[in-house]
Amino acid sequence: MPTLQQSLRPERNESGTPAQHRRVLTMDPWQAEVVYAAIARPFGYRFPRLSKAINYACFMNENVTIEELRMLASLVADRRGWDFSSLNVERDPVPWEYEEVVCALLLPEHRVLDIGTGGGEVFLRLAPSLGEGVGVDIDPEMIRVARQNTPIAMRDTLRFLTMSAEELRFPDASFDAIINRQAPFVATEVARLLRPSGVFVTQEVGDHNTQNIFDALGWDSNGAYMRALLAEQDKPPTGALENVAADLKRAGLTIVRRESYDVPYYFQDLDSLVFWLRAVPVPMNFDDDQNVRAIATFITENQTSRGIRTNEHRELLVAAKPVG
Ligand SMILES: C[S@@+](CC[C@H](N)C(=O)[O-])C[C@H]1O[C@@H](n2cnc3c(N)ncnc32)[C@H](O)[C@@H]1O
Repeated sequence: MPTLQQSLRPERNESGTPAQHRRVLTMDPWQAEVVYAAIARPFGYRFPRLSKAINYACFMNENVTIEELRMLASLVADRRGWDFSSLNVERDPVPWEYEEVVCALLLPEHRVLDIGTGGGEVFLRLAPSLGEGVGVDIDPEMIRVARQNTPIAMRDTLRFLTMSAEELRFPDASFDAIINRQAPFVATEVARLLRPSGVFVTQEVGDHNTQNIFDALGWDSNGAYMRALLAEQDKPPTGALENVAADLKRAGLTIVRRESYDVPYYFQDLDSLVFWLRAVPVPMNFDDDQNVRAIATFITENQTSRGIRTNEHRELLVAAKPVG
């Protein structure tokens, strides 16, 4: 007996392209998606099975219109902190995971600083592996969310403070480890705050992340867009990994690990793609016809049996402060 998901899954012909449009729901799939978003939103999108089923129905609708995309953009939830847990996504296996790399370096007595912690989502997951942690972010709203996210049982272990990466108000050699995921940092501040033999881990979004989305929107790459965005805001560019490594070396640290990966990544429903487009820095404006049409074409051209295909590009760097 096929599951609901299987019975909704579009049939594929031998070449792997979607079979002829097959109506399963009595309403258009996009309408079902909109109805789902309207029902699920007040409940924090807590019905992943229903979402999956609608996902497959949506994949039968090969040509999403710009009105449909706009409608979805008005219905999906806003990002809270840096919480992407509602996304239905899948990717190929990766050679390393940031959280695993960090956990492997931490000891239960370690005092750890997270620079640019956002809503503390990642730092909170790491909390069982450390002794004491401080998460800082320049945005007071992020710190408010991070404090709300902190369970009472963890409030002795983790603290969250509004502070800029450029001016971290802690004494020298305060931390055994400093971590930083997809946020700015200043190498000299990291070097000052680490104890001898302390470690620094940073993970950044690679220049070629979600390349086909940037292609569709008429940009060279995520890296080119981010550099333009930071220049417009009068902020220093986030470095390519070699610049970051050079800065850390100049500040007196030793680079002990440097890696990257670039793997296929799939949005498994339209909600997830639209949420992502609204939640991260991409050159996407849902009021702009050209942008929305480009995304509609992107969806049609990149549908696969695993979802809407793009790629995830990440870079990792681990540095250590020499002893003495
Ligand atoms: C992409 S989010 C990453 C959040 C979190 N590290 C994660 O991985 O989920 C980047 C965060 O860096 C913060 N940020 C940006 N500039 C900063 C600065 N100069 N000092 C401290 N935090 C900063 C932003 O407010 C934002 O919360």
